[in-house]
Amino acid sequence: MKDAEGYVTEDGRTIGGVVMEMRNITLRFGGVVAIKDISFDIREGEIRAIIGPNGAGKSSMLNVISGFYNPQEGEVWYRGSLRPPMKPYQVAQQGIARTFQNIALFEGMTVLDNVMTGRLTQMKAGMFAQAIWKGKAEREEVENRELAEQVIDFLEIQSIRKTPVARLPYGLKKRVELARALVSQPSLLLLDEPMAGMNVEEKEDMSRFILSVNDEFGTTIALIEHDMGVVMDLSDRVVVMDYGKKIGDGTPDEVRNNQDVIDAYLGVAHD
Ligand SMILES: Nc1ncnc2c1ncn2[C@@H]1O[C@H](COP(=O)(O)OP(=O)(O)O)[C@@H](O)[C@H]1O
Ligand SMILES: [Mg+2]
Repeated sequence: MKDAEGYVTEDGRTIGGVVMEMRNITLRFGGVVAIKDISFDIREGEIRAIIGPNGAGKSSMLNVISGFYNPQEGEVWYRGSLRPPMKPYQVAQQGIARTFQNIALFEGMTVLDNVMTGRLTQMKAGMFAQAIWKGKAEREEVENRELAEQVIDFLEIQSIRKTPVARLPYGLKKRVELARALVSQPSLLLLDEPMAGMNVEEKEDMSRFILSVNDEFGTTIALIEHDMGVVMDLSDRVVVMDYGKKIGDGTPDEVRNNQDVIDAYLGVAHD
């Protein structure tokens, strides 16, 4: 049963009410319409997947949620309020964190230092406060470091905490990016193809971590993923995009049996 209050999943997790609602979103880049009049919602505690062929508009949609793009039309509702156009750092301050389709880490810096940068949006003491009130800034630094170490333990990357990111294999870089997003303690986590380019074992690890983040911290997760098997295993509900339009929305089973979705994946021509 899905109602305003939420529902209980087959594996016994409780999904709450709507936290994020996209209403009739249209996003254009010059003549290119990346998103055409799409509406969907994300519920508290849910793992919500966005899938679709290349160029469907999935990353654009995640970029709208994260405040990186402001759509020309439509409304974004977050926790019961209409969200005005915002800068990404303002969205981050509302408890939304993300990872990127193309890894965006500081390659020359260590894992620990990269993870620490995820705390920057949360820092209370600005430069001025740091100068006149050293104690507060120092306390914050200690807290930030403790949090970073906790997340590093959680994602099982202790052994590489002092390693420069440039020296890591791809799969581990993806995990470091997840760590950096987690250290801001987001209530909504956005993952753009967290498993792209990974081998089977790395995908299994990443799936396990995504499930634990959701389960242990209660983090709501919206993720883009290509591997249908992974999507079907991980997600509670799936939005399917094709050529900027929404062509399906529902449980993995509902979406899998949707003829428009089957056609899109088989590459059947559209009119
Ligand atoms: N910054 C941009 N400038 C111009 N066109 C863009 C930009 N970002 C995305 N697009 C276009 O929007 C469409 C959707 O892209 P994208 O959201 O990246 O799709 P997906 O993530 O599903 O592969 C594509 O046609 C792409 O070329
Ligand atoms: Mg993309």
